[in-house]
Amino acid sequence: MINALRGMKDLIFEDAERYRYVTETAAKIASNYGFEYIETPILEETRLFRRSVGESSDIVGKEMYRFTDKGGNDVCLRPEGTAGVVRAFIQAKLDRQQGQKYRFFYFGPMFRYERPQKGRLRQFHQFGVESFGEKSVAEDFTLIQMLSDIFDALGIRYSVQINSLGCDACRPPYRENLVSHLEGIREELCEDCRRRIESNPIRVLDCKNEHCQELLSEAPRITHNLCDDCDRDFQQLQDLLSNARIPYRVDPNLVRGLDYYTGTAFEFVSDEIGAQSAIAGGGRYDRLVEYLDGRPTPGIGFAIGIERIMELVRIPEKERSGWYLGTMIPEGIDSILKLAHKKRKNGEKVVVEYSPKGLKGHLKGADKVGARYCAVIGEDEWKNGSIWVKDLLRKEEKVIPIQEA
Ligand code: HAM
Repeated sequence: MINALRGMKDLIFEDAERYRYVTETAAKIASNYGFEYIETPILEETRLFRRSVGESSDIVGKEMYRFTDKGGNDVCLRPEGTAGVVRAFIQAKLDRQQGQKYRFFYFGPMFRYERPQKGRLRQFHQFGVESFGEKSVAEDFTLIQMLSDIFDALGIRYSVQINSLGCDACRPPYRENLVSHLEGIREELCEDCRRRIESNPIRVLDCKNEHCQELLSEAPRITHNLCDDCDRDFQQLQDLLSNARIPYRVDPNLVRGLDYYTGTAFEFVSDEIGAQSAIAGGGRYDRLVEYLDGRPTPGIGFAIGIERIMELVRIPEKERSGWYLGTMIPEGIDSILKLAHKKRKNGEKVVVEYSPKGLKGHLKGADKVGARYCAVIGEDEWKNGSIWVKDLLRKEEKVIPIQEA
């Protein structure tokens, strides 16, 4: 028997239903917020992710599904959605429409070669949004509000953590400040952290090692080192969230694992799903369009990890719908198929059982597929052009001419 690869899962039955429900619900809400659907390729040039997600991130450093294709191109299965959407944005020359706003949503599989465990897969699915051209912090607020609306609609409880990662004006001096502090405690930090002092010191702040966290309690905080503009935006974001009664917590150690962020960063976490508790994350990336050779354009987005919320999603109970058609005699099949096609053309849901069987068997079948009506042709009905129909919701039955069914 051939099984799916480690860390990759089928979405089947209940999970498939939930996946569809999550993406449909989120897509509906995103369109209400003025976002449009975009689909980008799953395979992209490796250098796209190196330049966006960043060389110093774990994703690019250790987790890429990378190979050389038959044409000798260095390619990767996308580890996340933002890079591809930004590439598409630039490729469509939308960065040249200065002053315009473009808002997109997407969903689909992402690939990271991580050690599989609960909530961590090698192929997983995200629903994400990206907004271009809007630098107002009201957009940061709006995205957080939209994400809350999505989780509310799905019946999922969450808490919101926010931080500001600063901009080109305040990050470099903060970084210097932080590095000199880290140098002082270098010997006591874990190996990963010691390496990060050179490659990406800010990432030291979210080290999961408890000893490192204790050592870092005295580290300078980015939120105390923001420039006036970043500080004003961050305060305004908090005011907007408070006014909208969206509870949040400022977490100065929230730095996100991707290198492209500037300014607002946020994560939604759930305390009901174990160690991998981040159910969505996002933030601003005002320099990313330029890093990918586009004209300077502010951007912000988020992505939900769909597998992480799968077991928390409550799908409303489905009502019985559509038709189940069956026959008790082999001669009846032609009439059944004709009726089924007429109804399907008419936009109705129809499941047909081809094998002749008794009424009891058909009723069972109709129940199994969740049909509202069970319609069956027996010997008598076939002779006089009629059909037996039962409304399984109202529990009423009658025989009617087949044209009326
Ligand atoms: P991310 O935080 O890397 O951000 O991923 C977003 C979400 O995807 C996480 O919060 C988590 O729920 C889920 N996730 C990540 N890795 C895995 C995994 N191995 N297995 C299952 N679920 C996972 C991004 O990807 C950014 N592109 C978000 C963004 C959009 N920022 C701006 N725009």
